Amino acid sequence: MGSNIILVGLMGSGKSILGKQLASRLSLKLIDLDDEIVSQAGKSIPEIFRDEGEQSFRDMESEILAKALQTEQAYIIATGGGAVLSEDNRLLMKQAGSVIWLGASPEILAKRITGDSNRPLLAEIDPLAKMKALSIERNPLYEEVADLYVDTGKLTDEEAVAKIIHFLSD
Ligand code: S3P
Repeated sequence: MGSNIILVGLMGSGKSILGKQLASRLSLKLIDLDDEIVSQAGKSIPEIFRDEGEQSFRDMESEILAKALQTEQAYIIATGGGAVLSEDNRLLMKQAGSVIWLGASPEILAKRITGDSNRPLLAEIDPLAKMKALSIERNPLYEEVADLYVDTGKLTDEEAVAKIIHFLSD
């Protein structure tokens, strides 16, 4: 425990994409929490929300995060946007390595994920209004855990990866 690289941020902030690029650049294994949940549950995220409820999804998320962070091996962890809602998760992340907050404006994030039917929290609502509300609710939590902020609305993926690697090598 201690040298993991944990990516946090709202939906659409680039956690999965940059996670893959960082894993390949740093030769570390990537754990994408959403993917792990889907593979363990044997169903999609919208199906888990629909059949078992959001809390059950959150419990799985916390369990997989804790397991990943309790091993000796260092991972890149791409969290889901809501993983920081749990105080236990936030404490664990802070102890377990470098936490990188990927952020962008609600306008940019909403644009990136509009029409993505795999994100139940944004279904049936105005995505921009929801994204603004999520930013207000969660940005303080991302800020609380983060060692580094990376604006993926302004930087290209390559620049964002370079900034993170530079930070980690300091
Ligand atoms: C969620 C974000 C999603 C996924 C789930 C809930 C959230 O992950 O975990 O739909 O609460 O913000 P991404 O941030 O990878 O889209």
